[in-house]
Amino acid sequence: MTLKEKYGNWALVTGASSGIGEEFAKRLASENLNLILVARRIERLEKLSKELIEKHNIKVVVAPVDLSKKKFMDELKEYAGKREVGFLVNNAGFGYNGEFVEADPDVFRKMIKVNCIASTEIAHYFGAQMAKRKKGAIIFLGSLVGYSPTPFTSVYSATKAFNLFMGEALWYELKKNNVDVLALNPGGTATEFQQVAGTSAGPVARSVKEVVNTAMKKLGKRPSVVDGFYNKVLTVIPRFITRRSTLMIAGYMRKKLYTAKAPSVSS
Ligand SMILES: NC(=O)c1ccc[n+]([C@@H]2O[C@H](COP(=O)([O-])OP(=O)(O)OC[C@H]3O[C@@H](n4cnc5c(N)ncnc54)[C@H](OP(=O)(O)O)[C@@H]3O)[C@@H](O)[C@H]2O)c1
Repeated sequence: MTLKEKYGNWALVTGASSGIGEEFAKRLASENLNLILVARRIERLEKLSKELIEKHNIKVVVAPVDLSKKKFMDELKEYAGKREVGFLVNNAGFGYNGEFVEADPDVFRKMIKVNCIASTEIAHYFGAQMAKRKKGAIIFLGSLVGYSPTPFTSVYSATKAFNLFMGEALWYELKKNNVDVLALNPGGTATEFQQVAGTSAGPVARSVKEVVNTAMKKLGKRPSVVDGFYNKVLTVIPRFITRRSTLMIAGYMRKKLYTAKAPSVSS
């Protein structure tokens, strides 16, 4: 069965203007799904849309929506219209690096809105339609740092734990409705994420292609997946040591391996 037969004609990808989201858009277009591309940078979305229409002869809706804004869901609904979205990639998100007490709380407010509130509301709106139609797929973007509380990116790590939990819990709830849900958890992946967050992709940076391949392989087969062997090992360690030791390791690794030379807290 093709992806289109299994899930329907339309996919919606948030954060499609770069990195993992852009790669998801390319992958889904190559499977002939029509796309609704969401992000703030319209020129990036338009460029990608043109490329994908030319290459795959699909339909694309460019949806320049800021997911941190109050009325983002109204705007998104308008762009989606009556199109039956059968494949949702809840990917938009950003992180930060630094001391919690020194950061601007507005950045945290925005981070929680984009990473958690938007992913919840979007999944609820399109998930309800999928459940009714008895077919669909939803991917939530968690992270390696969602597996243990991570100092110096505490709020971001908490938002990713949120998405991991959402993906896994909804995998169970929506199974009966034939909707596949997956929490995709990448570790350091070379994208614009590091530039925005002031971090480094760490010692074993993965590519967006590897991350998307991992997701597409595991969707429909399990509730969550960690991308990459090195990252998998890091998520297994907490099962064998105390929570305090996990925290000590997470804090140490964050400073040593994942901190860029010039940390910034912006979005
Ligand atoms: N790269 C990593 O190492 C890594 C590791 C684990 C998890 N992740 C997760 O993977 C997801 C994708 O990140 P990435 O690595 O691909 O980073 P990226 O290249 O920086 O892409 C982030 C995407 O999110 C969009 N976005 C950010 N704020 C937004 C807002 N307010 N409204 C709408 N769209 C917004 C950005 O688009 P605009 O700026 O155009 O709005 C962009 O398309 C994120 O959820 C991230 O937490 C990344």
